[in-house]
Parts: sequence; C-alpha cells; structure tokens
Amino acid sequence: MENFKNIKKLGIMGGTFNPIHYAHLFTSNYVLEKYNLDKIVFIPTGEPPHKRDINIASAEDRYNMTSLATEDNPNFFISNIEIERHKTTYTIDTLRQIKSICDEDTELYFITGTDTINQVYSWKEPDAIFELTKFIVTTRPNYILDENTENLLKKHKDKIYICETPMLEISSTSIRKRIEQEKTVTYLLPKNVEEYIYKNNLYKTDFFKKYEKEINILKENLTEKRFNHSMQVAKEAKKLAIEHNIDKEQAFLAGLIHDCCKCFSLPKIYEACEKYNFKLDEVLEKQPDLAHSFLGYYVAKDIYNIKDENILNSIKYHTTGRANMSSLEKIIYIADYIEPTRVYFEGIYTARELAYKDLDKAMEYILKSTIQFNTKKGRIIHPLSLQAYEYYKN
Ligand SMILES: [Fe+2]
Ligand SMILES: [Fe+2]
Repeated sequence: MENFKNIKKLGIMGGTFNPIHYAHLFTSNYVLEKYNLDKIVFIPTGEPPHKRDINIASAEDRYNMTSLATEDNPNFFISNIEIERHKTTYTIDTLRQIKSICDEDTELYFITGTDTINQVYSWKEPDAIFELTKFIVTTRPNYILDENTENLLKKHKDKIYICETPMLEISSTSIRKRIEQEKTVTYLLPKNVEEYIYKNNLYKTDFFKKYEKEINILKENLTEKRFNHSMQVAKEAKKLAIEHNIDKEQAFLAGLIHDCCKCFSLPKIYEACEKYNFKLDEVLEKQPDLAHSFLGYYVAKDIYNIKDENILNSIKYHTTGRANMSSLEKIIYIADYIEPTRVYFEGIYTARELAYKDLDKAMEYILKSTIQFNTKKGRIIHPLSLQAYEYYKN
C-alpha cells in the first residue's frame, strides 16, 4: 500500500495481462507522459469466478509477468487488489479501494479503450465511478468516435479524455497463438516475460503426453514411417486448427489417428470389413488401400475409443474428401497432404500457403491436383472426390 502514497495523478491500467506485452507498456508510458501522470498502477484481474479458461494463465503467473514487465520503470507499479478479492470484481469496488489507500487529493485516471468506455453504463454504479475517476480513452490516430462515445463525452466533458495513441499491432491473443504454434514472440514483449512464459510452460498444451496411450497403440500398428507421418499430421492439424479458430485438441487427435488402418494387410482389410459390416464399393474393391480411411472410422471408435462424430468423419473422409466438409474434416484432409515431412512434389508450397489462408481454396487446390495425379496414374477416382471437387470449385 506504500506505493499508493504521495501521488498527485495516478493512472490505473487494468487488464488480464495474459500476457502483458509492449503495446500495454508503450500505451501506458505514452499516456503517463501526455497527461503528466506521476505513476501508473497495473492491476491484473483475478481468477474468473467460474471454471478457469485454459487459455488464461493463473492469476499468480499473470501477476508475476506484469511485475517483471514493469520492474525497470520507476513510474510503474503493480497491485494485487483484484487478485486478492477472490470473487467477481467490479470496477467501482477497485476504485473505492484505491481511493481509500491513496492520499485524499490523489486524482485517479482510469486508462481504457473505446470498447470499454462504451460499456461503462452497464457497469455497477456508473455514476459513482465518474465521481471517483477520470477516464483516459486511448484510440488509434484519426479514429472516428461513434455516437455512443460522443454522447458519453457530452455528458462527462471534463471526465473523459480521448487520447490518440500510436497503436502497436500486438495483442495477447496473437502472442498466445504464436507460442502455441511454436513461433517466435521476441520483440513483442519484454525478454524477462518471454523467459518466464517458457520456463513455466504457459500457453502450451502437451497433447503428446495426454494421448500417450493412443500413441502407443498406434506405434504397434503402424510402420515407423507411417507412425512419424501420423505425428506430423497431428501437429500440422493442431497448427491449422489454431489458425482457423477451431478446437485444436480435436484436430490433434484426429490427425494422430487418421491413418490407424493404413498398415493393414489385404486379408486384414477384408477381416475388418466383415467385423464392422462395411461393404467395399466398386472403387474400393479395385483400390482396397483407399478403404483404410473408411475402416479408420470403425477402428477409431472401437480400439481408440473415440466417440466424437466429427473426429470420426474426418478420419473417414481423409482420403476421398466429400462435399460440404466440416472445418475439422478439411483440416485433416489438408494436413495429411501438407505435413512437413512429405517429400517435395509440385504444388506443395501453394497448398501450404492456401491452407493457412483459406481452407476451401486449399481443398479445391488439393482435390484438383490429386484427381489429376491419380488420373495420370490410371487410377479410378472415387465419386466422393469428384463431388468434393465440384463442391469446392464453386
Ligand atoms: Fe491415409
Ligand atoms: Fe495420412
């Protein structure tokens, strides 16, 4: 509480800081200078009262990272008042608490963005909030305020300052995404915070550990080469899932299992068809190797205990594709084609590029290449592939 004494103008910077990065720090410092604030207090939010979101680092980790990020600036300090509260925190409660520990004449400046200020009237006791603090609302340069903000400004002329701030395009979300994808985050956040994240294994999910049992079954049923390919497809599928905002765990698991029947011998294929009551169609009769994906559906259910229909279907259609696939189905189909250990063939770079931009375009491209390739080889094209190509072409 010592920190809160002898301050005339105190900036308040609240946030989850998950993790804190240079845009938070730069904006704070910019505001401090522009409005002649004496200090800025960083207040990480506490744990959400309900179930913890796996993407949010613990309050302790977020506090530690914020502390590391601000330690070299004498005008910054950090407070755990929201973390300590252990229940839903309302801004008014935080402001009252700060007010009670500051000197009587300390002026408070709540630093926020336009989205937040526009919601202020949905907060608890908004009028009391305006009694206790002024707002510094940061916007990008030449930002046009919407009607809502304009009205607020009219109502609280001397309480709200609009501060055009050079905006760094850094977000906590993109940092977490990069870490998850094993891309560098250097220069996006302070070095010591980066080190803290790696040392404490934040924002990473270790699916390889979680699915050890499935991996061991696969190992026994696949050749080494096929097993390595499966691991790569799992990784690639997870990366694609993160990029396209779908469930990365589903993608990882589907990628892992997709070729579970790939190393079946011919007699074993027929045996499995009988066991699962699966009838080979005309094309599969002639090219039984293609059946591994369809049989994969049953084996994944039976041996790997997978119940999720979306995962099962992404296994089932990973060789042929089909019209109107789910995002997961597309991701597995594509990851299978582009995983990093695939030997080079013409078009793989284009396919990789498209995969991270637009799943449908990638589907169209890969289907087209595959159909052309197989036609040249004199293979029969499965009707599902033709339907899929027609679908994605349009
Ligand atoms: Fe396959
Ligand atoms: Fe595969």
